[in-house]
Amino acid sequence: MSVARGGRLPGAVDAAMARLNTSVDIDCELWREDIMGSIAHARGLALAHVITEEEAAELVRGLTEVAGEIERGEFAWDPAREDVHMNIEARLTELCGPVGGKLHTGRSRNDQIATDLRLYARRRGRETVAAITELGSAILGQAEAELDTVMPAYTHLQRGQPSRLSHHLMAWQEMLWRDRQRLEDAITRLNECPLGAGAVAGTGFPLAREAVAEMLEFARPMRNSIDATASRDFLMEVASTLAILGVHLSRIGEELVLWSSQEFGFVNLADTFTTSSSMMPQKKNPDVAELVRGKSALAIGAATALLVLEKSLCLGYGRDLQEDKRPIFDAFDGALVCLRALTGAIATARFSRERMRAALDRGHLCATDLADFLVGKGTPFRAAHHAVGGLVRLAEERGVELGELPADELGAVHPSLGDPEVRRVLDPAQAVDRRGLLGGPARSRVVEAIAAARRAWSADGS
Ligand code: ARG
Repeated sequence: MSVARGGRLPGAVDAAMARLNTSVDIDCELWREDIMGSIAHARGLALAHVITEEEAAELVRGLTEVAGEIERGEFAWDPAREDVHMNIEARLTELCGPVGGKLHTGRSRNDQIATDLRLYARRRGRETVAAITELGSAILGQAEAELDTVMPAYTHLQRGQPSRLSHHLMAWQEMLWRDRQRLEDAITRLNECPLGAGAVAGTGFPLAREAVAEMLEFARPMRNSIDATASRDFLMEVASTLAILGVHLSRIGEELVLWSSQEFGFVNLADTFTTSSSMMPQKKNPDVAELVRGKSALAIGAATALLVLEKSLCLGYGRDLQEDKRPIFDAFDGALVCLRALTGAIATARFSRERMRAALDRGHLCATDLADFLVGKGTPFRAAHHAVGGLVRLAEERGVELGELPADELGAVHPSLGDPEVRRVLDPAQAVDRRGLLGGPARSRVVEAIAAARRAWSADGS
């Protein structure tokens, strides 16, 4: 593998160095962004009268032709030409002749790659926002359909209080809503143009930085040439956001795994999102949920790689930064594949209303309600908690539920517990709707929450 290295180092690099040096097998993914950036730069050179309008037109024509070749799969990527930038420029020069050599005037691969990466992160970031929105809407659809499905709310994976499935689904939705906002914020912050920063300290050519930024739909040119070429915190931020999203998806995945077990039996995933076993003919495994859970490890790995890559790196550009591609590409690919699969799996899942309802029957889920009832009769909460705890103990010894203890035994703890009203207090369905405060699981609150979420999700993002 020989690399054309210009006049300073005319010989070929060592073969092992050539393998280490080349990145085109990975960064060719940036070809669209690279060509967009080059077209804007060529036009900017003409605006600055560094090249003529005719030369700019010739460069744009050539770049468009290169794009067509790549699109049609006719382009021969050459590892000896190191990276996506050199490959495209070399082909441009083959097509246009010496004018191709004018494209790189006032530009370095350092501001070029920084530009490509910002364009890439913006494009894929928007795609991811759309995919999060699809998942949010699948969850909202199920929350609406399962509005009257009651189930326990858990802490420590132990039954805690009566709740409803739609309230639980709306908790998933809240996490994803923040993920969407975080990504939109990151996109807004990264949307600045490095072009004109050159290798590190700008260029003497009077480049039209504002105009070029505008052509690429960036909000503005970056303010500092050293920062523009050396900083990748925008990738750390996006990858961290995707890692948090991955963690959220893994929690949803874990719940679907648990809920689809025979032990829970709360959900039945569509056959199209499950697999069987190569040995055990009866198996139906919730692979979609397990894979989503597993992929989050890679998302965290990508964010970690990007953080460590830049750690302690002196300013400006260092070649280490070439290694930022694979983690960010993987992070986006992983997020998108998980979001799309989970959207389908959730939209087609069937929840077992009977099993969820039945789970309220064991575990004394209305113990808190009973303590609160005593509070209403003037007992201090601590004392009420203690008294009801004693009753739970008694019920456990008898192998019955709190509500199955005879009235006289309840009444022995506190006279008002003998009251027939207590039966209503101990009815889980009524207990859910008693929690009518903001953020609670009462039907009317969940209806409100779903309506508000529908409005928020359908509002256009950044
Ligand atoms: N392939 C390089 C990267 O991804 C482009 C910049 C190379 N700059 C340099 N001075 N060698 O970071």
